[in-house]
Amino acid sequence: MKISFADSRPAGDYALVVPVAGKSGSDVLRAVGGGIDAALRRQRFEGEPSAVAEHFINDRRIVAIGTGDSVSPADAAEKLGGAAVARLLISGETEAVIDLTGLGFDADAAARVALAAALRGWRYDVYRTKLKDKQKPTLAQVTIVGAGAGAADRYATRYAAVVEGVALTRELVTEPANIIYPESFVARVKASVEGLGLEIEVLDGAAMATLGMGALLGVAQGSVRAPAMLIMRWNGGASGEAPVALLGKGVTFDTGGISIKPAAGMESMKWDMGGAGAVVGAMKALAGRKAKANVVGVCGMVENMPDGNAQRPGDVVTSMSGQTIEVINTDAEGRLVLCDVMTWTQREIKPKVMIDLATLTGAMVVSLGHEMAGMFCNDDGLADQLLAAAKSSTDALWRQPLGEAYDRLIDSPIADMKNVGPREAGSITAAQFLQRFVDDGVKWAHLDIAGMAWSDKPRPTYDRGATGFGVRLLDKFVEDTAEG
Ligand code: BES
Ligand code: MN
Ligand code: ZN
Repeated sequence: MKISFADSRPAGDYALVVPVAGKSGSDVLRAVGGGIDAALRRQRFEGEPSAVAEHFINDRRIVAIGTGDSVSPADAAEKLGGAAVARLLISGETEAVIDLTGLGFDADAAARVALAAALRGWRYDVYRTKLKDKQKPTLAQVTIVGAGAGAADRYATRYAAVVEGVALTRELVTEPANIIYPESFVARVKASVEGLGLEIEVLDGAAMATLGMGALLGVAQGSVRAPAMLIMRWNGGASGEAPVALLGKGVTFDTGGISIKPAAGMESMKWDMGGAGAVVGAMKALAGRKAKANVVGVCGMVENMPDGNAQRPGDVVTSMSGQTIEVINTDAEGRLVLCDVMTWTQREIKPKVMIDLATLTGAMVVSLGHEMAGMFCNDDGLADQLLAAAKSSTDALWRQPLGEAYDRLIDSPIADMKNVGPREAGSITAAQFLQRFVDDGVKWAHLDIAGMAWSDKPRPTYDRGATGFGVRLLDKFVEDTAEG
């Protein structure tokens, strides 16, 4: 989607999008005239948030979109931009002009109209070779007018790169597992971020074996696809300043391994690399906007398959930390991957904070559904920073507990720990497992995004499918805590 800002409405063909602030209506709409008030009334349009009604005047499609009159401008702005594109994407219109005159949006809110429009316009149709013309997107350009000073600049410097990052995440999450496996994930990411100034390093299976990553490699050994660890460094901050580390679970397909999953719905496990996807998307966004911070992204990439060489329930593996793990359930593989990524990161990167993102547990989806991701954190200050970033980025988080009593549930009679606890509190025991790999003094947060990487329903900034959850959150967190 091409986004631009203009001082006044252009000439030519376009659909005019007019925001209507609830009952107070809209001056722009009143100026349009042409009987539009009556036409909207007959569609029971009252300007409530995300309500949409249409009317044609002299061959021009006028799209009235409600913004409500009591919500925050940022929220109203994103719903508006998203609703406009959702409505017009395959409408036959090629350009939309969104007229913000009189709304009183500040530069950030106006820029967020553009951000939401661009995000909502993302599609991935590469495998849909038989789309009818009527199903193909037509909208190619969104022009924002009446935005006031600073909005265009705000979008260009702050949000355009975020759109690119989210697009990369969504593409990786959407691609099936015969196309995206550890090595092709790395190759796709490299190609996508070329020229942005990210330093990229890749560890192969042999290198990880030398480092003693027995937990990650135990997961990978049942697959013919070689594992990989992808490290991306962005050095935009002061030299010598300890970086923020972003870690991602990158299971390119999760069959469950020998503890195999039921057939129904297993195809969704192609997006079990959503944590890694979010990390690389965030790195692309940060590099794209030249963030003034040092940030390192580290993704553990494996495929979890059952085969003659797969690990068995009961196997004991030794992690890079030296701690041993009894693998009770080969389907609890994400924590096995992440624990070695965490140890590597703490030894090699010495981060000031370490945040991991993972589609880790079905239990998280049971507790929070598809509205928020769960956050587990060993530091109240970091937790508050993440909650603040969540609020302003719209990638919602809700803090979850950690504690001794939960930790005891993963003690093993034969090894230092087992990889699953009882059925109850499954997300918490998964987090406790990870916490056993956090070194003293390291501020750490674990985001269980199992319910958020994919959506069966459209929302203002995404259609059904991959959401890109986490990119905006991490981008905002870095801006708030590590820049300047
Ligand atoms: N990738 C899954 C978690 C998951 C499930 C994500 C559903 C998204 C939707 C993870 O590897 C897994 O299989 N977890 C198990 C853990 C259990 C064996 C302790 C689970 O949640 O059932
Ligand atoms: Mn699993
Ligand atoms: Zn998994």
